[in-house]
Amino acid sequence: MSDIIFDHVSKMFPRSGGDFTALEDVSFSVGEREFVAIVGPSGCGKTTLLRIVAGLERPSLGSVRVGGRQVVGPGPDRAMVFQQFALFPWKTVRENIAFGLKCKNVNRQERDRVVGQYLDLLGMAGTEESYPHQLSGGMQQRVAIARSYAIEPEVLLMDEPFGALDAQTRTVMQEELIRISRVSPRTVLFVTHSVEEAVYLADRVVVLSRSPGSVVEIMDVRRVREAEKWEGQASEDVMEVPSFVHLRAQIWKLLRQRTEATPP
Ligand SMILES: Nc1ncnc2c1ncn2[C@@H]1O[C@H](COP(=O)(O)OP(=O)(O)OP(=O)(O)O)[C@@H](O)[C@H]1O
Ligand SMILES: [Mg+2]
Repeated sequence: MSDIIFDHVSKMFPRSGGDFTALEDVSFSVGEREFVAIVGPSGCGKTTLLRIVAGLERPSLGSVRVGGRQVVGPGPDRAMVFQQFALFPWKTVRENIAFGLKCKNVNRQERDRVVGQYLDLLGMAGTEESYPHQLSGGMQQRVAIARSYAIEPEVLLMDEPFGALDAQTRTVMQEELIRISRVSPRTVLFVTHSVEEAVYLADRVVVLSRSPGSVVEIMDVRRVREAEKWEGQASEDVMEVPSFVHLRAQIWKLLRQRTEATPP
């Protein structure tokens, strides 16, 4: 089991002059092998929410359960992909991807097999002995994704993983993520600033309000995608389908209502 349940989660950070509330009473769940995207204005607590699931922060109120167990710290069942490529610059592609496996005492032969498998899947075969600085940004991010998949976590936490990429590379990466999700399905919580990306990739989209972040709405994208048969179509075609355009507009509207200053 690898579902995620947020049960009335609030997070306060101590600040001079009183606590600052970053998240307020957040409750929703991510089903086993479901892909849920989170969108919301800058500073609304998206990264904090992922860090709580990763066990890097504790909620001030409420709790998070993964696979029925309350999260109390980091664990190998959850992997996080950060916005900034967090590769070891002094290690090769092979060593970067195998790092988590080595920590788990997986033998050399098995490590090489897994590295090869994910590099193949991401179209990066032959780069095993390269160093991160020899790769483009998109390739580095592919290595970071391969590394998080390699430890075979049940839950993948992705914090704007494609935010730093150019539009074209980003599209390729989105299509690759869909492909890898089919071959190797996981429970995914994916933060993005792009409403389009959220609607293209996710089964459901959670819309958060501006700070302090709380759940405004949860949109069921999968239902529309299945009814309208977007599945398997190229992203540029999907983005012109009226039902896609409509969903995107609805989410934009929610975000705008919740980000604009409320009149006095
Ligand atoms: N360790 C911390 N100590 C104090 N305040 C923090 C800490 N971590 C986050 N915050 C505050 O909590 C709020 C939410 O931060 P967070 O990084 O989760 O936002 P975000 O939604 O990911 O923003 P962005 O879209 O810009 O990445 C911000 O106001 C931030 O300053
Ligand atoms: Mg963030």
